Amino acid sequence: MKNQFKVICPSITPLPPLLATAIAIITLLPITIRADTSAKIMAYACYTCHGKELMSYNTPTLKLTQQLLAFKNGSKTSTIMERITKGYSNSELQSVATYINNPKNAF
Ligand code: HEC
Repeated sequence: MKNQFKVICPSITPLPPLLATAIAIITLLPITIRADTSAKIMAYACYTCHGKELMSYNTPTLKLTQQLLAFKNGSKTSTIMERITKGYSNSELQSVATYINNPKNAF
């Protein structure tokens, strides 16, 4: 009776350090990938509505970033862009603006 717990749960031993590290990396990996939404993926989302016109706005990166941030904080009124830009961090908006302004990335 005294040793009942031991029988049901015979061995709770700590994981070997290497295995514990591997599990930690595998668990945290998707978080790291998600945090860095690639500018290319974002630009494709923009492209679905804006089409090729998106690349021809020809706005300097800084101005485009400011425009996107203005949509995000509501200081520039919009029907849809406020909702879209709120889905991204400020640095993600900056990277998509940089991506769009690079002629090498033209669709
Ligand atoms: C669902 C369709 C849709 C998507 C997706 C979308 N936009 Fe827009 N965008 C619009 C609409 C509609 C406007 C006009 C402003 C408004 O009413 O929201 C606009 C306006 C803009 C403007 C201002 C253009 C101007 O001439 O003033 C910029 C810049 C812009 N979008 C960039 C982007 C970027 C960058 C993305 C991707 C992160 C994006 N848009 C994604 C629909 C979209």
